[in-house]
Amino acid sequence: MKHLCLSIIGFGTVGQGLAELLVRNQSLLQQRYGLEVTLVSVANSRHGFIYCEEGLHIPTLLELVATGRPLQEQPHVQHWQNALAGLQATSADVLVEATRTNLQDAEPGMSHIRAALARGMHVVTANKGPVALAASELLQLAQQQQVQLRMEATVMAGTPVISTIHEGMAGAQVSEIRGILNGTSNYILSAMATGRDYAEALAEAQAQGYAEADPTADVEGYDALAKTLILAAMVFDYPLKPEQVVRQGITGISKERVQAAMQNGKRIKLIASLRRDMQSGNVEAYVEPVEIPLSDLLARIDGVTNAIKVQSNTLAEVTVIGPGAGRLQTGQGLLADLIATSTFKNF
Ligand SMILES: NC(=O)c1ccc[n+]([C@@H]2O[C@H](COP(=O)([O-])OP(=O)(O)OC[C@H]3O[C@@H](n4cnc5c(N)ncnc54)[C@H](OP(=O)(O)O)[C@@H]3O)[C@@H](O)[C@H]2O)c1
Repeated sequence: MKHLCLSIIGFGTVGQGLAELLVRNQSLLQQRYGLEVTLVSVANSRHGFIYCEEGLHIPTLLELVATGRPLQEQPHVQHWQNALAGLQATSADVLVEATRTNLQDAEPGMSHIRAALARGMHVVTANKGPVALAASELLQLAQQQQVQLRMEATVMAGTPVISTIHEGMAGAQVSEIRGILNGTSNYILSAMATGRDYAEALAEAQAQGYAEADPTADVEGYDALAKTLILAAMVFDYPLKPEQVVRQGITGISKERVQAAMQNGKRIKLIASLRRDMQSGNVEAYVEPVEIPLSDLLARIDGVTNAIKVQSNTLAEVTVIGPGAGRLQTGQGLLADLIATSTFKNF
């Protein structure tokens, strides 16, 4: 049996989703993967970082956060107010980073990931910021330290995109990727296709819990941009800066434009696309609303579902469709990476 000590920094929707899956899947992990995971530390911004070498009791932690009580009410824990200080003073095999995505400077996730890699820990991240802005630097640091940096949950949550391309399609030369990578904007555009205007569709998405009170990151295309940057680095090995991606959101799309496209047998979708010029090797990337014909599968993806099409020299077109967000759906992406990490040679 392999024993893996885990630290989770960021214990909100996604961090708790992973913790719940670790409890639910405990016997499966032992029986199928010979893996025993001990959660030794957890941090959020309100209560700081708690650590227990023997392992934290996950149901108690979930109960504490559900009732708004401090994490340090868990018995027998050491406590640091600052997550980075706690991380540096304790030890674990793997860090799961699940703090909020920040596309300005990627903090606080960037510091957590750098510190964990520098300490020789594997890192699994749901946080898009650090890998969108600095994938090369972080992957290089991981390589120097002979540890893994994995990020499945950052693109389409637990729906396997990065591992499908990276591992499942290993050796294929990918020339183009097109996808619907933001569920909120797709929900709004789908609702507009049924006759609602933008404001009504946004209000509906907010009422359903699909859109935040401030929906800017989703509707202006920043969330899809972050995923596009991650795909550029991971699939094309061609890191792009945010300003190198042409980005346009959906806030300027009127009900009339959506209806006119429909009359022409088309749908408007917020499409993230990356294309490699096979001559120059350059990669161009876009996040923008595009009118696409119904013959294109992407036109028929409705609601919060995500989808991605990958063109390559050997497989022509591969399409992956699935959830792009959610507590357990994103927890699944982290869990798959955690299991993959446990098979790494130096474990
Ligand atoms: N939700 C999804 O469906 C989804 C899907 C794919 C990827 N993601 C990504 O996953 C990450 C987490 O998302 P989420 O929905 O779980 O967000 P969330 O519910 O807002 O949780 C974020 C967590 O990070 C904690 N945090 C913030 N700053 C911190 C710091 N300096 N030190 C320690 N903890 C800190 C917060 O503490 P408090 O609890 O005290 O506020 C909270 O527990 C984000 O980067 C997001 O983009 C989310």
